[in-house]
Amino acid sequence: MPDDQIVVTGASKGIGAAIARELATRGHQVVCLSRSGKAPAGYGISCDMTDETSVVAAFKEVASNGSVAGLVNNAGVHMGSPSATLQTSEFDQVMRLNATAVMIAAREVYPFLKNKGGVIVNIGSFFDKLGVPDSLAYCASKAAVGAMTRCLAVEWASAGINVMNVAPGYIETDLNRVFLAQENVKRWMSKRIPTGAPGKPADVAQLVAVLFGENIPFLTGETIYIDGAQGVNH
Ligand SMILES: NC(=O)c1ccc[n+]([C@@H]2O[C@H](COP(=O)([O-])OP(=O)(O)OC[C@H]3O[C@@H](n4cnc5c(N)ncnc54)[C@H](OP(=O)(O)O)[C@@H]3O)[C@@H](O)[C@H]2O)c1
Repeated sequence: MPDDQIVVTGASKGIGAAIARELATRGHQVVCLSRSGKAPAGYGISCDMTDETSVVAAFKEVASNGSVAGLVNNAGVHMGSPSATLQTSEFDQVMRLNATAVMIAAREVYPFLKNKGGVIVNIGSFFDKLGVPDSLAYCASKAAVGAMTRCLAVEWASAGINVMNVAPGYIETDLNRVFLAQENVKRWMSKRIPTGAPGKPADVAQLVAVLFGENIPFLTGETIYIDGAQGVNH
């Protein structure tokens, strides 16, 4: 039976799959949650993170298989809409997966971490502090991830639980592949991103794996941006 498992949400592809692979390569036991239940490493559980009953059942299953060492709240969605015509249902849908599900998963993993410590890494975005056209819901949801990270870190420090927010810049995945392939976007990116181009899922995965690999109790509640310095570029 797997021991000291790390649960990665949205692990079937993209950044989540890279995180699952990187953690497994470094010797961690990985549990991959997604609607498809695909597991690029470790084992998979089919779970819709927007369905609370399904999330509660998934964490029960994980705990019945062994102890739990951490959680990566990675599942997320971006839906672009001009704010003037943004539908409330669309706003709710984005907030439900990107923000509410983060709260639910953290709450559900808490009982398994509280007496022995552990690490929760939320995947935010550098959009959390930017004004991005047609992205009101997404930006609001990722700002909420930063806020929840701070609140959870403060509340759960005495339980030995570290909570961090890893906030990527543009990373090429299915979420944005079509957008990033446009010639005008490529030209804009090469000028705007000081390192020259969007990052790769493996870049984010390495950072997340370091947070699990190093024991740094004093590092908690913070947002670490990984964006090729785009967010600080004048
Ligand atoms: N790509 C970027 O440029 C970028 C930048 C900053 C932040 N991020 C953040 O990084 C995270 C991962 O993004 P990505 O680019 O890797 O996205 P992606 O390639 O679209 O993958 C999304 C993952 O989430 C899962 N998922 C979607 N809805 C779900 C649900 N309701 N319940 C459970 N799992 C669900 C998908 O699996 P199933 O379809 O099998 O459910 C998939 O594994 C997101 O939080 C995103 O906001 C991405």
